[in-house]
Amino acid sequence: MDDSIIQGFSKFNKQERIDALIRKYGFQEDLDKWLATFENSDVSIQKLIEDMSENPVSSFHLPFTIAPNFVVNGKNLFFPLVSEESSVVAALANAAGYWARRGGLHAEVLGTEKKGQVHFIWNGNPEYLRSLFPEIRSKLLAESDFLTTKMKQRGGGITGIELKSLPQILPNYFQLDVGFETCDAMGANFINSCLEQFGKSLQEYFRTSGKVSVNNRECEIIMAILSNYTPESRVRAWVECRVTNLLDGKLPQECELFARKFEQAIRISQVDVSRAVTHNKGIFNGIDALAIATGNDFRAIEACGHAFAARNGLYAGLTDIQLQDGKFRFSIELALAVGVVGGVTAVHPMAKLAMKILDNPSAKELMMYLAVAGLASNFGAVKALVSVGIQQGHMKMHLSNIMNQLQIPEVNRAEIQQYFQDKTVSYSAVEEYWLTIN
Ligand code: MEV
Repeated sequence: MDDSIIQGFSKFNKQERIDALIRKYGFQEDLDKWLATFENSDVSIQKLIEDMSENPVSSFHLPFTIAPNFVVNGKNLFFPLVSEESSVVAALANAAGYWARRGGLHAEVLGTEKKGQVHFIWNGNPEYLRSLFPEIRSKLLAESDFLTTKMKQRGGGITGIELKSLPQILPNYFQLDVGFETCDAMGANFINSCLEQFGKSLQEYFRTSGKVSVNNRECEIIMAILSNYTPESRVRAWVECRVTNLLDGKLPQECELFARKFEQAIRISQVDVSRAVTHNKGIFNGIDALAIATGNDFRAIEACGHAFAARNGLYAGLTDIQLQDGKFRFSIELALAVGVVGGVTAVHPMAKLAMKILDNPSAKELMMYLAVAGLASNFGAVKALVSVGIQQGHMKMHLSNIMNQLQIPEVNRAEIQQYFQDKTVSYSAVEEYWLTIN
């Protein structure tokens, strides 16, 4: 066997993992000390963080930031955001304050059903299977009762089971398409446990019921897994104001021009995939930052959001606009599944703080806050794009990264910031100016 292949890495202790890093990459012997500087000084907290993952050697920090002034359905909140992109946080904070002065942001949940499937092959007549399905359904529900009792007590459980025959995908291919209500939980473990149990019950039915002929007695379970696409778990958020109130201190004609350009930008995102992807990336700048801060699975949220963006057969921007009767109405609709109990949300100390900052929201409230964060982020981006452009703000924000890269001492930074107030920021421009004053 190739002796560069490491066996049993997960059984190594932390020092052994770091030693392996040093051996492979020739890092300095005291790498462990350097890595330790990124760890929490409270050993129990560090253990908590490391226990969340596999093979840790240290911690990786991102800024935990605050955007104030989010007035959502009349409630005034700070949004906790984890993002390495300073302009994202600045744009969210600006948009929140902007809309707080124009009646706030609004949101409503349109549904909360989650989905999962048992994928299986059965070599038989779909109509006959359909005729047996009421009996099969009863067996599936009865035999998963031990898994669903608690969730039912909380008002959730299995909301429906549909049998789908899909020979166009594979010969003799069927699905059990199952709906779930998981209340305040993300519910991934609950859903997957139920689906795996359904798979077992289904196989047993074919083996033992005597209702299927000897030839097609067996069914083959391909897999049983939740779907991160949750089109029935949906949320909408919107803002509105008079067009003439869009720009502070500007003439009505300027506001109208801005509204028209904003509308054109949205229309482009709805039909042009190149623009739609970037447009939606801007939306997820806000959604992910809030999802990460609250310990939610942002990959699941993104995957679902992008599939929803393509629900009509064309990948499109997720926001919409109406300019009517002198009013500007800007909205987003999103398929989204989140949890506020269990998982990282209940374990990570910063996620717990984020939940407190949001006044311990229900899953439905968090869905609304995420949609609002996406809308605000998109508003900020498109507003800049159709007016001053994006680079002015971006590069101003990026200035501190550049100064860090150039290792400019703290005492000189204010002067550099002052100098670049009205100038274009770039790495070479900052470097050149630094050389002249240094
Ligand atoms: C940058 O992170 C996000 C934007 O490109 C989004 C957009 O173009 O709408 C500014």
